[in-house]
Amino acid sequence: MSAAREARLPPATLDAIEAEAWTLLEAGGRSFRAPFHSGQIASIGADGPNVRTVILRGADAAGRRIWCHTDRRSPKFAELAADPRVAWTLYDEGSRLQFRAWGHARLHHDDAVADERWAATVLNSRRVYQVQDAPGSTSAVPTAGTPPELDDSRWTIDFSERGRAHFAVVETVVHRLEALYLHHAGHRRASFRYGADGHRTAADWRVP
Ligand SMILES: Cc1cc2nc3c(=O)[nH]c(=O)nc-3n(C[C@H](O)[C@H](O)[C@H](O)COP(=O)(O)O)c2cc1C
Repeated sequence: MSAAREARLPPATLDAIEAEAWTLLEAGGRSFRAPFHSGQIASIGADGPNVRTVILRGADAAGRRIWCHTDRRSPKFAELAADPRVAWTLYDEGSRLQFRAWGHARLHHDDAVADERWAATVLNSRRVYQVQDAPGSTSAVPTAGTPPELDDSRWTIDFSERGRAHFAVVETVVHRLEALYLHHAGHRRASFRYGADGHRTAADWRVP
């Protein structure tokens, strides 16, 4: 088995697991090369749960928060505006480690948080915010949704600013975090709860 696929040995203590979890989430939020750079985020829609893959755009261990970016016209944005309860799952196949997080979403669109994150967004990531019709709209033809004038010669940082109106940041304030380590010597599962100010209110081992 290659080293990359070697299952991660679970740390021995709850404190060590929690520290590792937040370190890995912060690293995943910083780099597309790191594990946990993407995960799934679930919201509650009119017809029930809705889950989809997103890029983890940041994590803050001290504040117990994780972030993703989205189009403000997307169904997920409307769902989270109507019901901010949100759940995440992130899995790294290399280390066979899963994180689950539950919390509430704070949506940023017309504020300094969104401005700051938009300014830090690289040109290529801005392309998706150019779609003319809302994500999920029907189309009579196969389409990327971007305007016809958006060819590579026009794709400049100035042009990309048109996407700012559609850009939104989903900040998840984490109330509960779970780590599951799959390991041949015995799986390990640990659960952590956080109060409104981010301080830890509980830490427990769970039966995997
Ligand atoms: C690898 C991958 C990464 C994605 N990252 C994002 C993302 O960061 N933000 C986002 O809104 N959608 C992202 N998507 C698309 C979503 O999974 C989803 O299809 C889209 O946002 C529509 O979701 P909604 O209709 O529930 O709002 C990603 C999809 C994949 C496959």
